[in-house]
Amino acid sequence: MSQQDLEALDVGAIREEFPILERTFDGEQLVYLDNAATTHTPDPVVDAMSEYYREYNSNVHRGIHHLSQEASIAYEEAHDRVAEFINADGREEVVFTKNTTESENLLAYSWGLNELGPGDRVVLTEMEHHASLVTWQQIGQRTGADVEYIRIDDTGRLDMDHARELIDDDAAIVSAVHVSNTLGTVNPVSELTDLAHDHGALSFIDGAQAVPNRPVDVKEIGADFYAFSGHKMAGPTGIGVLYGKRELLEDLDPYLYGGGMIRKVTFEESTWGDLPWKFEPGTPPIAEAVGLHEAVDWLEDIGMDRIQAHEEEIARYAYEQLEAEGDVEIYGPEPGPERGGLVSFNLEGVHAHDLASIMNDHTVAVRAGDHCTQPLHDKLGVPASARASFYVYNTREEVDALIAALDDARQLFA
Ligand code: ALA
Repeated sequence: MSQQDLEALDVGAIREEFPILERTFDGEQLVYLDNAATTHTPDPVVDAMSEYYREYNSNVHRGIHHLSQEASIAYEEAHDRVAEFINADGREEVVFTKNTTESENLLAYSWGLNELGPGDRVVLTEMEHHASLVTWQQIGQRTGADVEYIRIDDTGRLDMDHARELIDDDAAIVSAVHVSNTLGTVNPVSELTDLAHDHGALSFIDGAQAVPNRPVDVKEIGADFYAFSGHKMAGPTGIGVLYGKRELLEDLDPYLYGGGMIRKVTFEESTWGDLPWKFEPGTPPIAEAVGLHEAVDWLEDIGMDRIQAHEEEIARYAYEQLEAEGDVEIYGPEPGPERGGLVSFNLEGVHAHDLASIMNDHTVAVRAGDHCTQPLHDKLGVPASARASFYVYNTREEVDALIAALDDARQLFA
């Protein structure tokens, strides 16, 4: 993308759609740099959900009355829109869940508990989020399958030689994060998927930090399963997505049971409905689906490539400013195509929680802690880190505010 295209992204106009960004605390305007945890929701998404509740709130797939028909159509069309967004082959390949974590659990319970056993290997990476790590660790303990982790190197990238060692004919599934929520590393997910397929293993990609920020084409990646959350992509909380290849989802047993997912029920047995409803029992997140549909429209109106370019530019600026401080340790790859829009770091001699607290005094919101990657922090040799994560509405001036707050923390703790 040329600099000219990048300048065409009107951050000022984008910010006007987020009244929350105008909030002040003790007279200082909020600087929100915690977007990897959750992004804010633009007015059109809030309005779409509000319109649903005001105009056509009703349950889906159940009623023949007008409101239920309208709600059902909106709910189904949300699946179609998400399928189009990630280049899936239709709504059958898009299951709405609660979040990425539930998507991971769906596969782990439906497939993992039934198919894994002693001698099988589940291959993860050392940079997995707990959503994947804890889930597969527990399934491994229950089934007797080994769970192994592809090492990271000193730069925060995957050691692909180690990946080739672990992904052999014993590998049953490879589950990897697309963009690390701690290191910012953009992983070679197509290569990992190809390795998995070469050995007859499945591939599952956790795209929670990728889909919000860059164009994602599930066909191009080739993954069997791919997961992400609505609330990290300008959409609402309470809705996530599990993409799965149709033939694999057809073979998979449901993980949750109840109404809405069945075809025929007798006192003795039940059969399952069509995809994707087979995996969506009970009253689903209808308003949230409407919001997610609107969020996808909103993101694509801006353009995913422009969002990616903007975030990479802000993250690069943040990385360079932090590096120039001299006493800041930054984790993960240098800026470039292998780093997403976030920077985790520590200021020498200051605990990350204290740092985040001083930053909060300056109304700069960052996350501090282990970011749900405790084993990765153990490997890095630190109990916690501070993390600044960016989105389409962030500016260089906000990075400057981060640096000013960091300088203040240094003074206080010196
Ligand atoms: N996974 C989210 C984060 O990294 C919660 O902050």
